[in-house]
Amino acid sequence: MKTLVTIGRGGTGKSSFTALMAKCLIEAGAAPILLVDADPDQNLAEMVGVDLKEAGKATMAELIVDTFIEKGGTMVGVSPTERIESRLLANGLYEGEHFDFMSVGTKWVEGCYCMPNSALKAALEHLTKTYQYVLIDSPAGLEHLNRRIASKVNDIFEMLDHSKKSLDHAKRAYRIAKEVDMQFDNFYLVGGYRFPAELGSKAEETLKFKYLGKIVADEQVDDYVLNGMSLLDLPSVNTAFASVKSIMKAAGYIHQ
Ligand SMILES: Nc1ncnc2c1ncn2[C@@H]1O[C@H](COP(=O)(O)OP(=O)(O)O)[C@@H](O)[C@H]1O
Ligand SMILES: [Mg+2]
Repeated sequence: MKTLVTIGRGGTGKSSFTALMAKCLIEAGAAPILLVDADPDQNLAEMVGVDLKEAGKATMAELIVDTFIEKGGTMVGVSPTERIESRLLANGLYEGEHFDFMSVGTKWVEGCYCMPNSALKAALEHLTKTYQYVLIDSPAGLEHLNRRIASKVNDIFEMLDHSKKSLDHAKRAYRIAKEVDMQFDNFYLVGGYRFPAELGSKAEETLKFKYLGKIVADEQVDDYVLNGMSLLDLPSVNTAFASVKSIMKAAGYIHQ
């Protein structure tokens, strides 16, 4: 099992990149795949043609509140991890033909809820073992990811745009990952659709992370997103999709 996380500033193209990585892995026959939307905007679902509400599924945050805070009561002999895992399986996991999907959600209770957080993390660690790939769209910061979702991932993809702030974001994200003791194998830079291609090698030199390439700006992608269409249905010849394929190739995930 490999866990791939996409991070970066808002609007850089993280969710569409995550959706296109999924398309790439699905076409390469790499099922089963789990997509995890950790974005409060929750737009990854739409980008892969999932409607959680319609499917009767709840977010992890809703299930946490429901299981530990509203229901509260004890279930003798059932650990918090087992409780949340069975709720996730029954009420949170969307099972599609080519991939499964879960959303973290927004309704998170802040404060000292260490028990639900660590129960969720342990449940996810167990539940994700059955997948070949877990893709996480994670704009909220690696410290949150580390606390609630996963403290061990394989690749972190930092999405860059044309602003200096996005280079600062990359530096800060890397520092935080180290500070919170997040385990990972690779920290990669990816040029978002607005990133100037010629700055790739400069970003690599300044930041000292491997630059995998840039996502091509493509009107059809923009159009699909605007109209709420699934990016998985883009034609295989789409230029943005082709650029994501070559990024996946540079990261060693696909071979042709
Ligand atoms: N490759 C692309 N080419 C053109 N427009 C894109 C591309 N990727 C994303 N967009 C547009 O940029 C906007 C933000 O993309 P999104 O993936 O939601 O970013 P993020 O998740 O980082 O906030 C979307 O409205 C989408 O239409
Ligand atoms: Mg997003």
